[in-house]
Amino acid sequence: MFSQTDFLHMERALALAARGLYTTDPNPRVGCVLVKDGEIIGEGYTQPAGQDHAEIQAMKNARARGNDLRGATAYVTLEPCSHFGRTPPCANALIEAKVARVIAAMEDPNPLVSGRGLGMLRDAGIDVRCGLLANEARELNIGFVSRMVRKRPWVRMKIAASLDGRTGLPSGESQWITGEAARADGHAWRARASAILTGIGTVKEDDPRMTVRAVDTPRQPKRVLVDSRLGVSPLAQILVGAPTLVFCASLDEHNAERAETLRARGAELVALGNAQGKVDLPAMLGELAARGVNELHVEAGYKLNGSLLREGCVDELLLYVAPSLLGTNALGMIDIAAPASLDARTRLNFHAVDRIGDDLRILARIERAEEAQTDTP
Ligand SMILES: NC(=O)c1ccc[n+]([C@@H]2O[C@H](COP(=O)([O-])OP(=O)(O)OC[C@H]3O[C@@H](n4cnc5c(N)ncnc54)[C@H](OP(=O)(O)O)[C@@H]3O)[C@@H](O)[C@H]2O)c1
Repeated sequence: MFSQTDFLHMERALALAARGLYTTDPNPRVGCVLVKDGEIIGEGYTQPAGQDHAEIQAMKNARARGNDLRGATAYVTLEPCSHFGRTPPCANALIEAKVARVIAAMEDPNPLVSGRGLGMLRDAGIDVRCGLLANEARELNIGFVSRMVRKRPWVRMKIAASLDGRTGLPSGESQWITGEAARADGHAWRARASAILTGIGTVKEDDPRMTVRAVDTPRQPKRVLVDSRLGVSPLAQILVGAPTLVFCASLDEHNAERAETLRARGAELVALGNAQGKVDLPAMLGELAARGVNELHVEAGYKLNGSLLREGCVDELLLYVAPSLLGTNALGMIDIAAPASLDARTRLNFHAVDRIGDDLRILARIERAEEAQTDTP
């Protein structure tokens, strides 16, 4: 159904889409290549939200190079949009340009689009095909797909650990277990996320900024703190700069004064408590999705990591493993109890294993999360 040249052009479109890794949020990263008479005549990728989508960029690029778009083939990594959002529908623009063929990697999981964009193109007499390098396209927008399909972000839990799975000394000291290269790599993963989340235990112990510094990016992810009782110091680094979102268990007369102080520091407070008086984590994910969070990058301690995992709120682990041992009484990675039988253990799949400097980087997916994610258009 697809030729070798089709593959090459879609690979190019995917490479273009990846250029928007840090910038398109909350929109998906999309790439587009326009081909006519075997030649690439225009290329584009999604610009920051509110600006051109990939198809429009590619068409502008083709026209700027003096090309006529009539009869061209458009390779797009995601179905062209069919609705008026912050920009007009790309499907219309392709129809008006009189392209002859559109090859899409995957359908748009956005319920406002899902198939309608391709339908509009077909109705206009354009030869439309979908499904070329779909897995690669889905990976690139794993968070967007999750938000659209599951109404929750894709949750990636980053942990730096010793080879015996320890994340800090009993004293709380944990900086640094992994090397500089791994830490810089961690910043690249922060940069692609819509938001970075941590817990009050980590803030009290380490006072982290939770910003992206080691890689160049024009966009800082939103910062999110889980702090049931608003115990964060108004002077904490996590509150410095753009407004930080703080989830607590309740907002009432008992913490009104603290709440006011934190608001004065620019924090936005959201009360979502569970029966245990802690933050209701699944509800928090729903709230984050409603706010446009696609990929949520978690860097918390073992307690919050444990709750997130137990409550089914984790999709994958981004694990940096250092060639060192810290001992059994050092802090663990994830506070979960052993299951009653091995059959009940949490199963993961190794998605990627790489060496970063002196450390290992393991991307491991919870089996359930993988199933949910592939069950998409
Ligand atoms: N090596 C690494 O990758 C890494 C990364 C981050 C942190 N750390 C280390 O981890 C240590 C801190 O660990 P930690 O476990 O104390 O901190 P944490 O997991 O960051 O925060 C835990 C706190 O979150 C609050 N919380 C609110 N809702 C919760 C819920 N539903 N479930 C669980 N917790 C909830 C609880 O405090 P309240 O009840 O007061 O809200 C809880 O004590 C530090 O030593 C830090 O250096 C290591």
